[in-house]
Amino acid sequence: MEQVEDPRTELLGRDWEAMTAQEAIAWGSERFGSSMVFASSFSLEDVLLIDMASRAGLRPRVFYLDTGVLFPQTYELIGRIAERYGIEPERVLPELTLEQQAERHGEKLWQSAPDKCCAIRKVEPLRRYLAEAEAWVTGIHRDQSPTRANAPRVTFDESFGLVKLNPIVDWTTDDVRRYIAEHNIPYNQMHDQGYPSIGCIPCTRPVRPGEDARAGRWSGFQKTECGLHGR
Ligand code: ADX
Ligand code: SF4
Repeated sequence: MEQVEDPRTELLGRDWEAMTAQEAIAWGSERFGSSMVFASSFSLEDVLLIDMASRAGLRPRVFYLDTGVLFPQTYELIGRIAERYGIEPERVLPELTLEQQAERHGEKLWQSAPDKCCAIRKVEPLRRYLAEAEAWVTGIHRDQSPTRANAPRVTFDESFGLVKLNPIVDWTTDDVRRYIAEHNIPYNQMHDQGYPSIGCIPCTRPVRPGEDARAGRWSGFQKTECGLHGR
């Protein structure tokens, strides 16, 4: 019987840190083909990765977790990106509609128990979707928050049980902005209106001058992550 290598073993002994973002994407694509999926909230980082993969001649398999409370600007951008890159982003939905969630757990769960709301609307759908994949690509980078300061470029994601690629993990927000401008990539105009980080409507506010880029996410709560990325 053919021996299937444990991906954890396969990742050992390689200098992922020395790789460029493009090299990481190329490696993932060669190794996993269409079993590698791109997680996209259509942030600056995510549209950049779609552009980078397309430029390398790939047709990235992009998916987004549609919580039902994303900004209209985000939905509009999804259409523009799909058209520009000739892709069909897959829409991943929670088991519960917003109405069902309100009936079972109360109105505005994001106010009373945001962790539970994220678990229902983001983490469970992500787990379900990733169960069919071998690798996922995300746009996280180390300068986004202290919780991401040690994120690796390529790792085995123990929480979801597959390989995780963070191709631009060592990029700064300025690097990201520069790439977007140089390649004239469509992006969410809210980023120019005080929203460095955009998630769901009820849990995103603009940041004030001098505030941290993620200060506008779950403002007023201790929460800084929604459970997609290891704490
Ligand atoms: S979050 O955990 O706080 O929501 P953030 O908005 O910084 O994450 O995004 C980090 C990365 O997580 C994105 O680059 C993207 O790969 C993934 N991601 C975040 N939100 C979604 C979403 N709604 N659908 C798919 N991927 C997402
Ligand atoms: Fe719910 Fe807010 Fe999490 Fe969106 S970010 S799933 S609205 S708690």
